Amino acid sequence: MRVLVTGGAGFIGSHLTDALLARGDEVSVIDDLSAGRMARLDERAVLHKLSVTDAVALNVVISSARPELICHLAAQIDVRASVAAPAVDARTNVVGTVNVLEAARLAGARVLFCSSGGALYGRDAPIPSLEDVLPLPESPYGVAKYCAEQYVGLYNRLHGTAHSSLRLANVYGPRQDPTGESGVITIFCARVLAGERPTIFGDGTQTRDYVYVGDVVAAFLAAADQGRPGTWNVGTGVEVSVLELASMIGDVAGRPADPKFAPMRPGELQRSAIAIERAERDLGWRAVTSLADGVRAAYRWIEEGAPDRAGY
Ligand SMILES: NC(=O)c1ccc[n+]([C@@H]2O[C@H](COP(=O)([O-])OP(=O)(O)OC[C@H]3O[C@@H](n4cnc5c(N)ncnc54)[C@H](O)[C@@H]3O)[C@@H](O)[C@H]2O)c1
Repeated sequence: MRVLVTGGAGFIGSHLTDALLARGDEVSVIDDLSAGRMARLDERAVLHKLSVTDAVALNVVISSARPELICHLAAQIDVRASVAAPAVDARTNVVGTVNVLEAARLAGARVLFCSSGGALYGRDAPIPSLEDVLPLPESPYGVAKYCAEQYVGLYNRLHGTAHSSLRLANVYGPRQDPTGESGVITIFCARVLAGERPTIFGDGTQTRDYVYVGDVVAAFLAAADQGRPGTWNVGTGVEVSVLELASMIGDVAGRPADPKFAPMRPGELQRSAIAIERAERDLGWRAVTSLADGVRAAYRWIEEGAPDRAGY
């Protein structure tokens, strides 16, 4: 299959690109390299350096690459940056997605849109949250992802396409930037390895649903093989507190993580976990990597110097 991955030089996108190449697909990548790195890419992937906000350039690339499938992962992913500059976030995450949908329409490609499970459901959603819960995002990033999903659904109704949205929980694993703003597991691993104390914002009882990047890639491949449109949560359904995480990382490191505490950041949810039954039923997918194994893999990757081409 000819596949195009936007955001393919990023953390999740580069693993997805490797997996598509490994199954014999022809893969092109669109990435503006704002957060992505060329060095993460296999040499068989053709990189086009451009922004999804540039509709003209996007159309030129997509009409010449003629993908059958577009995995749309390019995004501004920093929730706090979205609060500081919501229009910038919307330009990339909403207008960029509309541009991808339009280019896909002209090329006759199907789109798998990478949405968020953690940023969509809001503080009153039952846990684990089902896909049917009315989203009440707490950030411009969450609103933008929800809005983009609405465009995905609209294109299916308007143009009879079979586009789908995957709502990812908190993804972690090798290649996730340990110096970034998100990605608590790699950030904590890096601190502990450097002999520093990781910072917990709040009292550490807040929970998240952590899903390993290898499992996320498997969900994309399963959704690629599923011809019908859908919206699927991609997580574990399990709530894990930040305190539990810190303790687990301490176990892997062989010494206590000894976290320090700072005030909770505004807009942060106390609890989050997403229901997994729909993806199990429709895609035959479920996460298979235990948190202990995934944390060990992330820790080992940082110990090895965080190489760009690390597998999972
Ligand atoms: N990491 C998580 O926990 C998580 C959770 C839910 C959803 N997601 C979604 O998964 C996708 C990938 O996230 P990631 O964690 O790999 O982050 P990432 O920052 O590593 O990947 C995003 C990629 O998009 C590229 N990009 C950004 N703006 C662009 C633009 N305007 N044009 C072209 N490329 C652009 C970046 O350079 C980067 O390579 C995103 O859509 C994100 O919203 C991630």
